[in-house]
Amino acid sequence: MTVDLLLGLQWGDEGKGKIVDVLTKDYDIIARFQGGPNAGHTLEFDGIKHVLRTIPSGIFHEKSMNLIGNGVVIDPVVFKKELEGLIQFDIDYKAKLLISRKAHLILPTHRLLDAASEASKGKAKIGSTLKGIGPTYMDKTGRNGIRVGDLELNNWKEKYRNLANKHESMIGFYNVDMQYDLAEMEVEFFNAVETLKELTFIDSEAYLNDAMKSGKTILAEGAQGSLLDIDFGTYPFVTSSTTTAAGACTGLGIAPNKVKDVYGIFKAYTTRVGSGPFPTELFDKVGLEMAKVGREFGAVTGRPRRCGWLDLVALKYTCEINGVTKLMMMKSDVLSGFDSLEVCTAYNYKGKIIKHLPYNIEPENVTPVYSKFKCWAADLTKMTHADQFPKELIAYIEFLEKELEIPIEVVSVGPDRKQTIYR
Ligand code: GDP
Ligand code: IMO
Ligand code: MG
Repeated sequence: MTVDLLLGLQWGDEGKGKIVDVLTKDYDIIARFQGGPNAGHTLEFDGIKHVLRTIPSGIFHEKSMNLIGNGVVIDPVVFKKELEGLIQFDIDYKAKLLISRKAHLILPTHRLLDAASEASKGKAKIGSTLKGIGPTYMDKTGRNGIRVGDLELNNWKEKYRNLANKHESMIGFYNVDMQYDLAEMEVEFFNAVETLKELTFIDSEAYLNDAMKSGKTILAEGAQGSLLDIDFGTYPFVTSSTTTAAGACTGLGIAPNKVKDVYGIFKAYTTRVGSGPFPTELFDKVGLEMAKVGREFGAVTGRPRRCGWLDLVALKYTCEINGVTKLMMMKSDVLSGFDSLEVCTAYNYKGKIIKHLPYNIEPENVTPVYSKFKCWAADLTKMTHADQFPKELIAYIEFLEKELEIPIEVVSVGPDRKQTIYR
């Protein structure tokens, strides 16, 4: 069998957690392939809301297996808290959650390095979630990292000490004022590692390839969004992993010719949390209204998300680099009742109209060109079938499909599992 991918096409928080949860019934294995606890994936059902950080969003389904792939970076401390959050829901996570031996560990000093790096940048800071993501991937590519499989070796604490010592001297290099008690952080860390060790570590690429051979279905769950990709995102205001389709191959050990559908998920508007360019950002009451109605606050840091109109130049770009086959439009309900809607269809780039995403999308270079649409007044949240959609919403969807040349198969009309409409 093959693998399907689910990826965020904007700057993250598109609603990936919700949709993975909805799709899980059709898959045997749900696998995270990159990122780490910088992610916050929200699921809502039966009146309860869950936010997952490292654990795949299939964990609440009885039958599915959940895998944390080699491309993911794991903070045992955050992970332990996540597991503890599952206990009250009677989730047998020891039976349903597997971890790749090749996944890298986020150490307490990685978090400190993240904070020191951001503090030293001042106004130019990335706006990182400060979970140690960048420093951990730096150690991975620098060939210094500690992996989950190392925890099965006798000398891993020695390796840990050497790396942590090196990190401490690096923190000094940043020359910023930082108060921390590493010994205290380490007590928490080593304790959490013991919890991590209670789970099953596997050679996950072999597991997945065997699963495919025996006819099992796999859904790869992306974290962050394509515009935060280390190569294709708005560098340097990006995360440190490959968030695009290629990341699922390297982050799981799956060959490209095994990938079938690529589900691309986007909000009916755009949001971004953290620093970096955002051409369609709104600074007026319309933007504030989107943030208020859409409850646009980060699931991880609680920071307000910046809001703006849908950007088709950027969306077309991310559909292309990912090879998206099916689209899913989220949070359509949030736009109900707006005076009118705008969609960016081109950029005025240094005086020239262009339709591709250029190297530099800083405001001094780019002004969005908008098309205006009538908005729908109806509340979408109670709708259960696409036949009930107002004509203005249908016109909006059909316009996007024509521009993007990809069908929008799912329209989400609320945070709950049930508020999901297939067309
Ligand atoms: P993820 O990181 O892509 O999983 O997305 P987040 O969970 O960070 O953010 C998406 C937020 O929107 C969460 O609070 C979801 O509960 C919520 N959400 C998802 N889909 C919808 C929708 O269609 N409508 C509304 N109003 N909220 C939604
Ligand atoms: P999910 O999976 C939204 C952003 C941060 C910052 C930049 C770098 O929930 O969609 P990092 O912590 O990786 O060093 O931060 O990336 N960012 C996210 N924004 N959703 C996320 O994940 C994000 N993960 C990182 O805000 O701008
Ligand atoms: Mg999120």
